[in-house]
This record gives sequence, C-alpha cells and structure tokens, in this order.
Amino acid sequence: MRCSVFTLALQAGLAIASPIDFPPAQLVARQVVDRPFNASLPNITIFATGGTIAGSASSSDQTTGYQAGALGVDLLLQAVPQLYNVSNPRGIQFANVGSSEVTPAMLVNLTQHIQRELDSPHCQGVVVTHGTDTLEETGFFLDLTVNSTKPVVMVGAMRPATAISADGPINLLEAVTLAASPAAAGRGAMVVLNDRIGSAYYTTKSNANMLDTFRAAEQGYLGFFLNIKPFFYFQPSLPVGKPMFDVSGAALDALPQVDVLYGHQGLDPALAKAAVAAGAKGLVLAGMGAGSWTKNGTAAIDEIVKESGTAVVYSRRSMDGSAGRSRGKGTYGSGTLNPQKTRIMLQLALEAGYDDEQLRALFEFEEE
Ligand code: SIN
Repeated sequence: MRCSVFTLALQAGLAIASPIDFPPAQLVARQVVDRPFNASLPNITIFATGGTIAGSASSSDQTTGYQAGALGVDLLLQAVPQLYNVSNPRGIQFANVGSSEVTPAMLVNLTQHIQRELDSPHCQGVVVTHGTDTLEETGFFLDLTVNSTKPVVMVGAMRPATAISADGPINLLEAVTLAASPAAAGRGAMVVLNDRIGSAYYTTKSNANMLDTFRAAEQGYLGFFLNIKPFFYFQPSLPVGKPMFDVSGAALDALPQVDVLYGHQGLDPALAKAAVAAGAKGLVLAGMGAGSWTKNGTAAIDEIVKESGTAVVYSRRSMDGSAGRSRGKGTYGSGTLNPQKTRIMLQLALEAGYDDEQLRALFEFEEE
C-alpha cells in the first residue's frame, strides 16, 4: 500500500495530538514548532485551527465520518518537510476543532493574533489551516478585519491526513509557498485548495465531498499552482465595495447575534420572531430566487423591523447573483454576498454601530 506523508509520520511513532478545545476565555495562541532559521527565507506563521486537514480516520479508505481536528500543528509541519525549503514556518496551535465549532469570539481573537503577527517586521505572511465547512466564513471575516498588504492564506483539505492521496500536505505546501511569495501581497485574504487560488471574499464551498469544492463561479479564480509555484491571472486588486472593520480593540464577545433563516415554500413566519426573541440583533434571509420571501413571512419581517429595530438583510439561497430586495428603513439587499458572508458583514457593521444609511451604503452600494 502507498502511504501519504502524513501516514508515514504517524507510523514513525509521532503522537496524534488530542483535540484542544479552547473556550473563549482561554483563547490563546501557543507556539509549538521551531526549526533552524534560514535568513534568506521569509518567515511564515501558520495558525492551526483544526478541520479535515488535521483529521484522522481509522483506515486509509475512510474519507467521511472521521474525526476532524485530531492532529496537532507540530505533526502537520513535520509531515511536509518541503515547507522548510520555501520558508521559516512557525506553527501556532490556535484551536483544534471541526470548523462548525468556530465561534464569533474565536474570529475576533484570530484577527487580533494575525494582526499582531503581520504588524511585526519579522513575519512576511500568515497561513490559517481550517476545516473546509466554514472556511469561507473565517476567510471572509479575516478579509474584512486584517489590515495588512501581507498575505493571509486560508487552507484546508477534503481528505483526512490518514487517507490515501490525502490532499492536506500539498495544499499546505502551496499555501505556505503562496504566503511566502512577493506576488501575493495586496490581494486580501485568499483560499488555497486543489491547486487553485481564490479570493476569500467571493469563494464558497460548492461541493460537500469533492476536492475541487472551492469556487467563485461568477468571479473566477485569482490564480493557480504549477509545480507548487503560484501564478496569478491578474495584477493585485480588491473586490469593489469591500469595507474594512477594526476589531483590534474589540472584546471577544463583541459581535452581536445574527441569524440566517432559510427561505422555502410554506415557510413559518414565526421563526423570525423566535430568533429575535432569542437575542438576534440582525437577520439574514436566504430568500428564494433573488431574495423573495413569502407574503406572510414578509409581513412578519416588517413588523419585527418596526417593533425591535432589528436589521434584516435579504440575501438569496440561489448559488449566485444579486439579491437587491430592500423594503425601506431597516431592510437591505445583500448584493452579491451569499447568506453566510452577509451574516458576517452584518455582525461587523452592527458592532461598528452602523446606522440605517450606513448599512444601506454598505450592502447596496452602486459603482459610480
Ligand atoms: C470541518 O470543516 O472541520 C470538517 C470538514 C473539512 O474540514 O473538510
């Protein structure tokens, strides 16, 4: 049987680190790996958060139903010695969880750690290893909150480290190579999987199982890898209308609760009221088509906006396109953002104290 590099590392007796769960109050970064320093190579910091890239299964043919977030960052780095040919990698075990367990507090904390790292002249770029299920949410959050032209690269894997042909090692090597590349500067946060480079602003997980899951069907990829080297299609540019939010001094629990409701035939209008009663300060509607909501559902939303001042953004459950459905004060259309990215944007805007006019300008901007 052919073994992946990860499998060989495991067989060599390197311990499988147990998952480390940091409750918000204890969210601290811990440096766990250091190797001889090569002054001619860039210093890249790798924040490991868990996911399938750090996942372990009981057999090499098991690619679902395994434990995500099982291996520590030390093992991830040891399994890819080529990382030391392109960088001085420094691994930090930020968390070790399945990405559905990533919380708003962890996002704020991660931004604060990454910002400190990139503000240092000793760090040339950052890589975040992450579960693919919510990778696009963390990537989008970092894109809107990390203020640096140095690269921030999100990376994950679709097959656990123990699988035959695990994709984690090559994805990690490509991500670190990208973060170490001068050509990667000034492009915002990026996503690397399956030999492709995407913008974290637009990229979404499009397939539950396949390696080529990360796509931005309308906006396309920024570039690709050949022989592990990154190639870009365009000069550096940023998404039109992309805002920046400063969470450097924010408390970890600063982000308000924003819930996403899914639109469908016969939806229950009471769910929106229940979400607000449970503490939601904002709602995102994954509406039908370009953001349609049922008549009685819309009446319930209008009532909520009037009574509680809850901000409601109409997005769409369709894969792509623009949802521009605003019904006046307190309601907005999400533009081209999907519901999960709209939710992050609304959390940040509410935390920053945006009023009605600012929220409208944020979500419904028009290019001059
Ligand atoms: C996760 O998102 O943590 C599990 C799935 C994956 O990483 O692909």
